[in-house]
Amino acid sequence: MKTELRGKHFITLEDWSREDIDTLLNVSMELKRQFAMGLDTPYLTNKTMFLMFFEESTRTRNSMEAGIAQLGGHANYLDTSQMQIAHGEVAKDTAIILSRFGHAIACRNCFWGIGNKYLNDLAKWASVPVINMQDDLFHPLQAIADLMTMKEKSGIVRRKKVSIIWAYADTHKKPISVPVSQVLLFPRYGMDVTLAHPKGYELPQWVIDKARINAENRGGTLTITNDEKEAYEGADYVIPKNWGNWVTNPGKDVVDDLLTANKSWKCTEEKMALAHRNVKYMHALPADRKNEVEDSVIDGFHSIIYDEAENRIHTSKAIMQLTMGGK
Ligand code: CP
Repeated sequence: MKTELRGKHFITLEDWSREDIDTLLNVSMELKRQFAMGLDTPYLTNKTMFLMFFEESTRTRNSMEAGIAQLGGHANYLDTSQMQIAHGEVAKDTAIILSRFGHAIACRNCFWGIGNKYLNDLAKWASVPVINMQDDLFHPLQAIADLMTMKEKSGIVRRKKVSIIWAYADTHKKPISVPVSQVLLFPRYGMDVTLAHPKGYELPQWVIDKARINAENRGGTLTITNDEKEAYEGADYVIPKNWGNWVTNPGKDVVDDLLTANKSWKCTEEKMALAHRNVKYMHALPADRKNEVEDSVIDGFHSIIYDEAENRIHTSKAIMQLTMGGK
């Protein structure tokens, strides 16, 4: 079991070894158990972390804020539009100053072509761990909570078919960071991953290449298809979720002809019937109800969305404890 994670940045799970991630899952389970028993967990007493948000959040913000409070520390919520960043202050200066004031910097910046670079710039200059609360490429906090949830439901996830499926939505042009993080992580646990999307919604080629290497190294598989039905057939887990066509069209418009043409990519009871009879429906949330999924599915027997969301706090606490405290 890998134990020396203090000070390690958490920007992408690709920088964390299988042993590191196993430790993270173990500690998440332990913290969840302690939370269930109502035990005090004062592991980060008097530690301060900064939460910088360039975008909205419900789950990420509150799991981090409540999480550090439960560990005895304090979070400063920072709306970046109210920081000197709005007047052009650079990541270097922000990172160095916040490092001197506290014990970790977490940041959400999903601007296409900017977010991940900004996170890495913070990490370059910070003397405390930098935690990615979602950028344009990665959402490791979501992917680790998803993996924890599947391990809880299945015990052993090896050889389980998990399908990451594009779905229609028109609320906003969503980042690719959730499917990218999932397609990279799940094969590392020997899962049979199917990635399904209409033409034009491809993930970056380097992601696919790396996911295939991860699958080869760990006995998983990766199938890519433009056929939704193939993804649902026999699946143990389905994760139908919208993402924007950032790779083929980096423009900011939410609705375009390509999106409109793919309105039929919706998770329905009929499609769920193609999957394994015990299939689990997952979604990182927020969901575009009615467009991405039928209410009878997201609110139905197969849905585990609230267990999945709950695990965001247990995994977030584990990341904070290991990187800010720990050994
Ligand atoms: N899944 C997720 O990151 O949710 P929020 O955008 O509400 O943080």
